[in-house]
Amino acid sequence: MAGREYEKEMERARRDLRALISSKTCAPIMLRLAWHDAGTYDAKTETGGPNASIRNQAELSHAANAGLNIAIQLCEEIKARNPRISYADLYQLAGVVAVEVTGGPTIEFVPGRKDSMASPEEGRLPDAKQGASHLRNVFNRMGLSDQDIVALSGGHTLGRAHRERSGFEGPWTQDPLKFDNSYFVELLKGDSKGLLKLPTDKVLVEDPEFRKYVIMYAEDEEAFFRDYAASHKRLSELGFSPPSSFRLAIKKTMVAAAVAVTVVFLSYLYEINKRDLSK
Ligand code: HEM
Repeated sequence: MAGREYEKEMERARRDLRALISSKTCAPIMLRLAWHDAGTYDAKTETGGPNASIRNQAELSHAANAGLNIAIQLCEEIKARNPRISYADLYQLAGVVAVEVTGGPTIEFVPGRKDSMASPEEGRLPDAKQGASHLRNVFNRMGLSDQDIVALSGGHTLGRAHRERSGFEGPWTQDPLKFDNSYFVELLKGDSKGLLKLPTDKVLVEDPEFRKYVIMYAEDEEAFFRDYAASHKRLSELGFSPPSSFRLAIKKTMVAAAVAVTVVFLSYLYEINKRDLSK
């Protein structure tokens, strides 16, 4: 399809996602979907990555993906209205919009990913019960660094664990529907207030290389937002080189997106407040 038409449909999908994520308050699971589709990438064999193979039942039923059928179903609504966009672009766009509408940084989004049904073997996503060397093995395999590991782990500012999905329970932060640097602030406080800390979260304060980034992000939210946006973009583009026809339109789209996100974020806060008052 011509680049321009595809972009138009992407923009509509972006608007649809904003509305869906705001009304269903499903930002956390949408972000987890984008991450789990991308996080299987293996740079050596150039397999896995953000190609929507996660919708393949064989991959969706991997233990690490428990519960993500919910996010895939929600995306079907968007796909039905925007049938020409690839699932791979849709899932990554859902992750970007989830971060934006909950108050996080604007992440540059480049469309053009191709869909695949070739699922990698089980076990490429990180195991929450393991330590620093496991985290490094998994993220280095994708081509990502220590700094990427820490910045991206800040994604746990959103959402919660569900006992029936992962065996873990509870949120990482006081306000799991707001994207901010509180994940790092809570990490440095240690085991207080009953908030969740996975073994892989704890290693970020124990390992000296990781720790320096945790401290930086806890102290400086702007630095976190800047680095998170860059790392998230890298994650969302593993193994993907954008078709040249899409590159020109990106800057224009970014400006429009920033304005619209501000509006949506305000109405999202309004919804949350309304809900709290009605409890
Ligand atoms: C560093 C290695 C990571 C490990 C071991 C890990 C592990 C987990 C586990 C066990 C859960 C709970 C799932 C459930 O019970 O519902 C979870 C949830 C979540 N993860 Fe991660 N994760 C990692 C990295 C990331 C990254 C890089 C992101 C995004 C950038 C991310 C975003 C999320 C989100 C948003 C949720 C909440 C989902 C919800 O509320 O339904 N995680 N993660």
